[in-house]
Amino acid sequence: MTAAKFSHRVFSGIQPSGNLTLGNYLGALRRFVEMQEEGIETLYCMVDLHAITVWQDPARLRASTRELAAAFMACGLDPKRSILFNQSQVAGHAQLAWVFNCVARMGWMGRMTQWKEKTAGKNAEAESLGLFAYPSLMAADILLYHATHVPVGEDQKQHIELTRDIAAKFNHDYGVDFFPITEPVIEGAATRVMSLRDGTKKMSKSDPSDMSRINLTDDADAIASKIRKARTDPEPLPDAFSALAERPEARNLVNIYAALAGEAPEKVVEDFAGKPFSEFKPALADLAVAHLAPITTRMKGLLADPAEIDRILGEGADKASAIAEPILDRTFEIVGFVRSRSR
Ligand code: AMP
Ligand code: TRP
Repeated sequence: MTAAKFSHRVFSGIQPSGNLTLGNYLGALRRFVEMQEEGIETLYCMVDLHAITVWQDPARLRASTRELAAAFMACGLDPKRSILFNQSQVAGHAQLAWVFNCVARMGWMGRMTQWKEKTAGKNAEAESLGLFAYPSLMAADILLYHATHVPVGEDQKQHIELTRDIAAKFNHDYGVDFFPITEPVIEGAATRVMSLRDGTKKMSKSDPSDMSRINLTDDADAIASKIRKARTDPEPLPDAFSALAERPEARNLVNIYAALAGEAPEKVVEDFAGKPFSEFKPALADLAVAHLAPITTRMKGLLADPAEIDRILGEGADKASAIAEPILDRTFEIVGFVRSRSR
């Protein structure tokens, strides 16, 4: 259905809720740029509505949104070729999310792994209603543009599946073939970059330990020191990647190396077979610094002119709205809302 009726359109989003990590870069941002380079229509969104599902200091949120916009561009996203914008400037996201809140079922939301993880050991009753309904807003982000492909890290797969369920239920309930069944794009060696302190946990901007992650704003010394201190086991590197199955920390570092070098993890293991981590880690640190240092420098340059960032986001929001409006209008018509204004 997707291929026949809907033209190829890419949408993805990142929350402006603090430092971006190497996980965001390898799992998402780098893929965003690759898709832009393929000449596909691409929309990339700073999802500030999602960010406030947990408390955000207003001044910090504004700063984080501009920082995220700068990071997008520093990584290679070009506002002339991709639509870059923040979610709250396009009213359709919240409007379509409301419709989807009435299509999706509470049980669907309750089964989301991320909801369960975020509320584990806490009183779920005290969380915001927005946090519970978060995936419904995410479905609205994607379907407001009839996006057919969504590049994300592995952790978002279940949310994309839910987006497909919402599209299918809407189409079924209203007897239409209106929303596409979106495909997740989860590719590469680094769709799940793990913590440097614990190879079984995702590298995350919200991990209390800064040593667990590499931030896009870390300087060369910080990157090198975090990689040097990354947890590993005492064994040297084996001669086959498959031998790392039970060594999550070692596997993670090899995957990071492979993703940065643009090589297969098998090849990296071959090259370093029998070498100790005291040799592998400095090579990985050099590679990480070579990739990230220019991004950090470009980010700083862009952040020196916040007015220009705001202008780019405003322009992006106008372009995004122009795509969204007819789709939202048609949705409201399908649902049965009276439409008196011609827009
Ligand atoms: P978030 O920081 O949760 O808003 O995530 C933004 C994007 O980065 C999503 O596509 C995530 O799947 C991706 N991402 C976040 N953390 C990681 C990670 N550790 N490994 C790979 N991808 C990640
Ligand atoms: N939920 C995603 C995350 O935390 C961010 C996001 C919001 C998103 N809306 C989206 C990702 C739409 C892809 C498409 O990473």
